[in-house]
Amino acid sequence: MANRLPVDRITTPEGEPSFRTSPGGLVTALEPVMRAADGAWVGWTGSVDDHLEPFEHDGIHIIPVALSADDVELYYEGFSNDTLWPLYHDVIAPPAYHREWWERYVAVNRRFAERAAEIAAEDATVWVQDYQLQLVPRMLRQARPDLTIGFFNHIPFPAYGIFSQLPWRTQIVEGLLGADVIGFQRTADAGNFSRAVRRLLGYQAKGSVIDVPLDDSELASAKHRISAVRPNKPVRTVVARAFPISIDAESYEDLARRPDIQARAKEIREGLGNPDVVMLGVDRLDYTKGIGHRLKAFGELLADGAVDVEDVTLVQVASPSRERVRTYQRLRDEIELQVGRINGDYSTLSHTAISYLHHGYPREEMVALYLAADVMLVTALRDGMNLVAKEYVACRFDNDGVLVLSEFAGAADELKTALRVNPHDIEGLKEAMLTAMRMPRAERSRRMRAMRKRVTENDVERWSSEFLAALAAPSTSLALPAAN
Ligand code: F6P
Repeated sequence: MANRLPVDRITTPEGEPSFRTSPGGLVTALEPVMRAADGAWVGWTGSVDDHLEPFEHDGIHIIPVALSADDVELYYEGFSNDTLWPLYHDVIAPPAYHREWWERYVAVNRRFAERAAEIAAEDATVWVQDYQLQLVPRMLRQARPDLTIGFFNHIPFPAYGIFSQLPWRTQIVEGLLGADVIGFQRTADAGNFSRAVRRLLGYQAKGSVIDVPLDDSELASAKHRISAVRPNKPVRTVVARAFPISIDAESYEDLARRPDIQARAKEIREGLGNPDVVMLGVDRLDYTKGIGHRLKAFGELLADGAVDVEDVTLVQVASPSRERVRTYQRLRDEIELQVGRINGDYSTLSHTAISYLHHGYPREEMVALYLAADVMLVTALRDGMNLVAKEYVACRFDNDGVLVLSEFAGAADELKTALRVNPHDIEGLKEAMLTAMRMPRAERSRRMRAMRKRVTENDVERWSSEFLAALAAPSTSLALPAAN
């Protein structure tokens, strides 16, 4: 279950409305699991008031949940993307706290939970995805204590000093604790969550195991599952730990090896005037991505004369996102002003300093861009994982290309031979860009090989199978509290 369904609405050449599998990594990861287990995917189509009956798509049962215009405004744009998103990304933008948004978040989470409770088979496993649905695990457990429930948070979980701003912090933590396994991107995120549990609820949380006392109704319904009732009140054990998400690395490499895509990469470089160095940024247009910091550093390198526009080009793909949220509208204005200024100051008739593209592209085109880029810039100020970094690495079967990677992206825990940067340190970022541009082939190759090993071994199939194995493990069962 996820906020979005794994299908996109399309119109067929005959003008009929239809659906197409979404290109996202989550879909690729879960598709085989869902088919094997005869699973169903509960989610929103992305359109307002889409009241659809469940249907079958490519062997997956699709269970649509309808959202009204108000739901989209209050639950999705409001609480999910203007409260939780900035709060969980270390308040890079100020989160807004509105009781009306919260009430709708509760109501929509209840709708998702009710739908799952209706359709899940006896003793089934339900896997809830991401911050839009944090209340679902508890709601679902109350309705269906027979279910095994997993939750995966795709974005960071903030330190308690930040999380504690949230007026509904206790409800969120209690909502998540309805799950048997709660997955996070980084070990630090899991630690932040466990600390929030200890501070807010006083439950014992040791290592990755949290003891959640059973309430009276759970106790009554669970008695038959507890062998010895000792003086201690029994608890449910919940596992909270890191399961870093990945990509389907093989499918990216397969695309990168295709001659037509390699030809396209060459064409892209020619179109840019065959500069010595192509640098690339690929992001949703989001304030967490540090696009402005990257542009500032590049603009200063041009201003200092450290790089020449004839030799170096920056391609920045900024795909449109959450365009009705004011913070995103303001960000777009700021970035486009910055791009315009730098291009106005430094471009020539034959060379553009920054090729700025406010579009989303099909995966084939993205792979061609990755192949065309000598330097990939991932300068997020905070990011759960950042799959773009892993996609770039997966595509570089030639063991070439340099990844400049922010230490604030989850991917930095794994891609240790990337050129690591603190994007707030503009001087450091400029130096890293220069180092990347000038790096000898042997060093590029050594660093890329190590990163490729990691990305190909820890692919998304491994992520989903490890999560589901943890969910199936007996450690997530009823137990007596661990001794102090
Ligand atoms: O990873 C965070 C996330 O919000 C996902 O849940 C989502 O698929 C993606 O970013 C894009 O966001 P949105 O669904 O708001 O367009």
